[in-house]
Parts: sequence; structure tokens; C-alpha cells
Amino acid sequence: MSSETNFSPTQINLSNLRVRPRRLRRNNSIRSMVQETQLTVNDFIYPLFVMEGENKTVEVSSMPGSYRFTLDLLLKEVKESYELGIKAIALFPLTPEDLKDSIGTESYNPDGLIQRSIRAIKKEIPDILIITDIALDPYNIDGHDGIVTETGEILNDETVEQLVKQALSQAEAGTDIVAPSDMMDGRIGAIRQALDGAGYHHVGILAYSAKYASAYYGPFRDALDSAPKAGDKKTYQMDPANTREALKEVELDIAEGADMIMVKPALAYLDIIHQVKANTNVPVAAYNVSGEYAMIKAAGKLGWIDENKVMLETLLSIKRAGADLILTYFAKQAAQLLQQK
Ligand code: PBG
Repeated sequence: MSSETNFSPTQINLSNLRVRPRRLRRNNSIRSMVQETQLTVNDFIYPLFVMEGENKTVEVSSMPGSYRFTLDLLLKEVKESYELGIKAIALFPLTPEDLKDSIGTESYNPDGLIQRSIRAIKKEIPDILIITDIALDPYNIDGHDGIVTETGEILNDETVEQLVKQALSQAEAGTDIVAPSDMMDGRIGAIRQALDGAGYHHVGILAYSAKYASAYYGPFRDALDSAPKAGDKKTYQMDPANTREALKEVELDIAEGADMIMVKPALAYLDIIHQVKANTNVPVAAYNVSGEYAMIKAAGKLGWIDENKVMLETLLSIKRAGADLILTYFAKQAAQLLQQK
């Protein structure tokens, strides 16, 4: 026996200590009973990349374990996800270069990749919720979420007009929820009005309300080949230094008709999630973005961290901060682990 284990306190006397928080941590049962936050598969929205072609997957190099799927294989992935209990997916298309132009016309092609994907998923797996992104960057030769002028300005109102057409086209194809991620002013109200005008009262809006100009989106832009060709997104996405601006954006989007709002990214913005939750009464989503995924995957691959444990702890932290829903590329992996618990 080492001298440490024979240690008997002589300097301090705790015999009158009444409050001993460790009583509630003594074993698994008591810990489960007093657990304040539970992560479940109902919390997850699974973002998926779809590309043209057949019977092919391409792993995203900066996102190991994440793939672009051709539509046939995407259906398989969606089915497996639904069987694991995942209730919603968020779809992102990879647009062939020759279909891109300066105003994102392909975004409202009734036979475009995203429209075909929505129809095919609705037919095969009708109960899974489909959330589709509204923004021009996957369709725009400039790689920006809005229309870019010759001098590099991002036009707001002209862009909103295109976004409205995109939303109507996705609604027509059968999407459940549209998710404007472009950060243009006034787009939530314009989209709501257009959807209602066309009889799509049932189509919801998940607004990317507090979306920051973040370096954490790098791997996503690799996945979709959608990085801006010039400049950055700072004239529309928010300054990472700002909190009150996030509350303002959230307030505006709710007033314009957003059913749910989002904070993005998640991890470096847990304080924002917390404050947004405290200041609103609609469901709050948080996007555990590509760079956050890549960091955990990379350190896990190197053997520097226990990937599964760090992943679950990370997702739990986002929930604890106040997120009701978490968009995460880990959705399937996490659902599998939660099922084993
Ligand atoms: C684009 C869009 C982006 C993401 C979702 N929609 C990237 C961007 O704004 O440049 C990022 C998702 C991620 O990094 O996982 N409208």
C-alpha cells in the first residue's frame, strides 16, 4: 500500500459537512435521474450533399465520413437514417459548373437536382422531413449567396427576388421546410408572402437568422465547390464579435414569419445560442458546421481524442446551451451510439 492511500486528514475536519454534492453522483442510476439535459435522436437534423450521376459516392476530403451521394444512393442513406430515428434531413446540391450563372437561374429549375431529390425522397420515405437550403451560392458562378455586381457589391432586393423563386420551386417539388441561409434583408417576409400567395401555407421556414461570417465553413465549401471566387461574405454574414445584432436579426425574422430560427456556427457561439433561446419563443436550431465536424474527425483519426465521446459531449453542449435542434454531420453516427446506450 502506498503512503497516499493511508492518508488520514488531520488538518481539516469535515464531519459536520451537510451538503455533499457527490451523493448525487455515486452511481449510474442516480446520475441518470438527476441529469439535466438529454441528447436524443429527435434533436438531430442530418445535412446531406447530393450530386448528379448514378451509383456513386465521393467522400469529402476535409470531412472524412461525409459523402456526396448520387440520388439513388442518397435515398438509401435517407432510409437508413430514418430507420435510426432521424426525423429530418437538410439537403445541399452540388451544381455542375456549366449550369451556374451570375443570377443562380438553376436554383428554380423545376427539374433541377434539388427538385428531383425532393420528389424522389418524398416518394420513397414520405415521413422524413425535408429541409432545403435557400441561397444562391451553389448555383452562382461567383460563389456568393447573392447576386454580385461588376464592382463586387452583393445586391439585396434583386437577390431576394431570386430566393423567392427558389423557395416556390422547392415548395412545388414538395419540400417541408425552406431554410434561407443567405442573410439578405427582408427575405423571410418575402418568402412567407410568396409561399402563402401560392397556397403553400403548410411549408415552414427555418431562418438562418444569426449566421456569422465564419472560417468554420471551409470544408462545406470544399464539399459543394461553392467558395466565393472573390471577396468574402462579410457584407451579409455577421461579425463574430456581435451579440446584440444576433438578437436583432432573430427578432426581425420572427416578425417576418420564421417558424424556427438558427444560430450558426454552434461551438464558438454557444453564448449566442443561450441568449437567443432566452429571448425568443420559437424553436432554436444550431448548426454544428463542417469545420467543427472536421476538427473532431481529424483529432479522432490521429488518436488524440476519443472521437465518439468528444462528439457526444459536443452535441450535448449545444443542446445544453439552448438548442432545440442540432444540424450535424454526426447525426447518423450519434444516432447509432445513442441507440446502443
Ligand atoms: C451557404 C451555406 C453555407 C453553409 C450552409 N449553407 C456556407 C457559407 O455560408 O459559405 C455552411 C455549412 C457548414 O459549414 O457546415 N448558403
